[in-house]
Amino acid sequence: MIIGIPRESDPGERRVALVPGVVSRLIKQGFEVVVESGAGAGAHIADAAYVDAGALIGTAAEAHGAQLVARVQPPNAEEIALMQPGAAVIGFLRPLDDPGISAALAARGVTAFAMELVPRITRAQRMDALSAMSAVAGYRAALDAAAMLPKFFPLLTTAAGTLRPAKVLVLGAGVAGLQAIATARRLGAEVSGYDIRPAAAEEVRSLGAKFVELALDTEDAATEGGYAKALDEDRQKRQIELLGEVVSEADVVISTALIPGRPAPLLITEKAVEGMAEGSVVIDLAAPNGGNCALTVPGETVVRHGVTIHGPLNIAADMPVHASQMYARTVSAAIEELVADGAVNLDMENEIVAGCCATHDGVVIHPRIAPLLDSPSSSPAAAG
Ligand code: NAI
Repeated sequence: MIIGIPRESDPGERRVALVPGVVSRLIKQGFEVVVESGAGAGAHIADAAYVDAGALIGTAAEAHGAQLVARVQPPNAEEIALMQPGAAVIGFLRPLDDPGISAALAARGVTAFAMELVPRITRAQRMDALSAMSAVAGYRAALDAAAMLPKFFPLLTTAAGTLRPAKVLVLGAGVAGLQAIATARRLGAEVSGYDIRPAAAEEVRSLGAKFVELALDTEDAATEGGYAKALDEDRQKRQIELLGEVVSEADVVISTALIPGRPAPLLITEKAVEGMAEGSVVIDLAAPNGGNCALTVPGETVVRHGVTIHGPLNIAADMPVHASQMYARTVSAAIEELVADGAVNLDMENEIVAGCCATHDGVVIHPRIAPLLDSPSSSPAAAG
């Protein structure tokens, strides 16, 4: 089976779906790999490194014309037109945010596997691309905050006086939040973390940060599987009020709160931002889902009430070398799960395959995507 690695066309995307180390492993397993010339450039990987790994360098048409196309961002219309009916694609395909992409892939007869939909189960952990990218995002958010803050992060005792450490507050202590906490701690800041899941307290403390306890009962805020549940309206209001006081004391707030499949919860109101000292920084990682801060403009950095509010949409692309390495491992693990004997093995009894397969045989087959399409039917003619 031939795997194609196109050069990403999305502006600002510097990652590549498969890196040479992973390519050589796939080739040892019997795959052939064709890489579009320059595909690795954004991640500082030369064509020659892919050649050394055993891949062929080709054109965009050759990479897109492969039996299995591995990518980071979803293909655009021209790229979909370059793909072969009956071929497969794997990557972040924005299945729930932009279901039209799945419809277009179905119309082209392409079988699509969305990395966003890999189920968060133990067996699929090594394919969990979202968590891998969230770890990158959390690290980078802490660094960006340190660079934007007009203060030091660490305590400094110098001949010119003693400087107090910056106070960093991290809202949402999931994958991104915990990595942000760990990174801000390493930079010497005084860090506190908050989450509605009671189990998060221990994880925050184990990183040497303070856990913020609000006078709010959230004992029931986690599902049996350990994921967060939305709070009812009264407790949401109370949470926002109580957080306002904590937020106003922070020099930096990094917000990462999210409940899968829902818009990001509002945690930082305009009033809370007004309460922060001038020069403070908010990094809102939830920006792609609308943001945890009322003043976030997704994709932009704005200054409101003297506070810099940064709402990155694709922060993992700012760390393209390691982000590509990590992403490539999750993609190759998924390929191993989806391909058997040189062909895509659409075993819908396999929870992972059924969980992430968006389209097959000209139809958007995923039960969460199909209802999002305008047309009552998900057939290619209707989706066209
Ligand atoms: P996660 O699901 O591991 O963590 C989210 C955390 O938020 C959970 O611990 C949850 O309990 C907590 N939470 C939910 N509602 C809350 C509330 N009302 N108050 C306090 N905590 C609450 O998610 P992960 O992987 O850490 O991702 C976090 C966010 O970062 C997501 O929005 C994701 O889309 C985003 N992200 C953004 C990137 C960017 O470029 N902006 C890149 C990668 C991830």
